[in-house]
Amino acid sequence: MASLFASSSNAAGVLEADLTAVEERLSALLDSNESQIGEICHYLVDGSGKRLRPTFIMLVYRACGGDDGARRDAVDAATALELIHSATLLHDDIIDAGVLRRGRPSAYARYGMAPTLVAGDYLFCRAFEICGRFDEPLVLTAARACIQLTEGEAMEGRLRFNAGASLDDYLAVITRKTASLFAAGGKVAADLAGAPPTLGDAMSRLGNAVGLAFQMVDDLLDILGPEEKIGKPVGSDLRAGIPSLPMVLAAEHNPGLRAMFRNGASHDDAVFRRALDLLRAPEVIERARAMAADQVQRARALLAELPPSAYRDRLSIVIDEQVRREV
Ligand code: IPE
Ligand code: IPE
Ligand code: MG
Ligand code: MG
Repeated sequence: MASLFASSSNAAGVLEADLTAVEERLSALLDSNESQIGEICHYLVDGSGKRLRPTFIMLVYRACGGDDGARRDAVDAATALELIHSATLLHDDIIDAGVLRRGRPSAYARYGMAPTLVAGDYLFCRAFEICGRFDEPLVLTAARACIQLTEGEAMEGRLRFNAGASLDDYLAVITRKTASLFAAGGKVAADLAGAPPTLGDAMSRLGNAVGLAFQMVDDLLDILGPEEKIGKPVGSDLRAGIPSLPMVLAAEHNPGLRAMFRNGASHDDAVFRRALDLLRAPEVIERARAMAADQVQRARALLAELPPSAYRDRLSIVIDEQVRREV
């Protein structure tokens, strides 16, 4: 990590210590009087998650001038948002029938639906237990992100196997199900750092752009794989009938693909492979990449509202790394 902080090795050390503090806080919150709850929570959280949200939050906090004074608050906020993210992953695998997560059997596949559902609820509650020590605006920001997440999953469910889902529908879903948590993280981090409200708004918009780009890239990786890299089977979205970005773009001018999607392409291996090929058409990939790149451009413009610092530089690199993930 130090080499990515060419301008300040001290900043690298600060970030590393911040993220270590998040890990310690996170781990301590997973235990439960009911041992199976703790086991499921540890099973997911101790897996190979990228910790992108805590990294984003701590970097925004530091880049907004946050010092060690309110560092405990920022670490707690980062921990709460990672707990919320973890809860959504447990629930998401139930909803999507996702059997692989982070390169191994999902909690849903390993422990079954009911225990995984309860463990997800437990993680949401742990997140709000932390939030209990914060002022109302921060709690509201976190709660509203959770409301959006829920509505995003519900909207996506409503559009499942719906070949008429539009690009606007798609953007509405991912704004809620993915970008809302990044936007909340950006705002909370800036507020805790004592940044003026205008910068807090800019950091919320930064989180939104990063979250949108991130989900678009995730949708591309879902069709491109390989499984070892993405930690879940290739074509999972297609199997689950999710109108992902490649599907929405490819189906627009292809009635044949729309019919395959509507009828559930996974019933027949040959149909599944044909549909996947159509999603991998170069023009589809190009358009999807261009849309992700557009969000990255927006993110860059918002980064420019931060004062120059090693943290801002690192934030820029993190954004690049995540959205480039070999697509
Ligand atoms: C997965 O998020 C869910 C999406 C929003 C695409 P991540 O890819 O950040 O998941 P982990 O935490 O690194 O496993
Ligand atoms: C990601 O949903 C958003 C969440 C709220 C979990 P996905 O269904 O797209 O995520 P993956 O692909 O299973 O990680
Ligand atoms: Mg899902
Ligand atoms: Mg899923």
